[in-house]
Amino acid sequence: MVNFLIFGPPGSGKGTQSVKLAEKFNLTHLSTGDMLRAEISAGTDLGKKMSSIMSKGELVPDEVVIEMIAARIDSTKGSSGFLFDGFPRTVAQTEALERMLNVRKMKIDSMLVLDVDHDELVKRLILRAEQSGRPDDKDPAVIENRIDVYKAKTEPIIEYCRQRGIYQPVNGMGTIDDIFDRLSRQIKKQL
Ligand code: AP5
Repeated sequence: MVNFLIFGPPGSGKGTQSVKLAEKFNLTHLSTGDMLRAEISAGTDLGKKMSSIMSKGELVPDEVVIEMIAARIDSTKGSSGFLFDGFPRTVAQTEALERMLNVRKMKIDSMLVLDVDHDELVKRLILRAEQSGRPDDKDPAVIENRIDVYKAKTEPIIEYCRQRGIYQPVNGMGTIDDIFDRLSRQIKKQL
């Protein structure tokens, strides 16, 4: 199995591209944001606890998402690899993922980082707020906080992965199709 991280700030297109890439390359798309929103929609105790953290644009505790991902890794069969979207988001989550994969004789093979201008991120999320109903898209201050949290807590993972030789920057500006072609070229190199 070949395993990819799709990485980048809020609004960089991780979710949009992951759905298309997972279909094209038979990858299992695991999005912790989608999993958490599913808990909220289902009205679970976990969802109730996490929803106020998410609506402020803060990160939920590491152990919550690590447990979610571990459960999904073990229940997945028949795909060519994993495409992790929105996970890991801290260095501690990255180390936990490496451990989870290592004990299953796998590794993170490539980190695809979408590079998008700040103004474009904000523009995309404000536009999405009109249809998404996501509380974290509705308030521009929460969007800015999500970008700040990304810079403070998530961006350090790039250096961590660069040192492991798996960092692959990808231009995330332009049309969805053009970005998809760029990402597809990187993925093909690994398969
Ligand atoms: P999560 O769901 O992961 O949200 P995010 O990282 O803020 O990412 P977004 O979904 O906002 O953006 P995206 O990069 O996926 O872009 P998208 O493709 O949607 O996390 C939400 C919250 O959950 C976090 O804040 C945190 O509280 C919690 N959480 C999740 N994972 C966690 C973890 N591991 N640890 C701790 N907490 C965690 O695109 C955005 C919009 O732009 C869409 O409308 C799309 O149509 C549009 N668009 C995409 N590409 C283009 C393009 N090329 N041109 C024009 N528009 C485009």
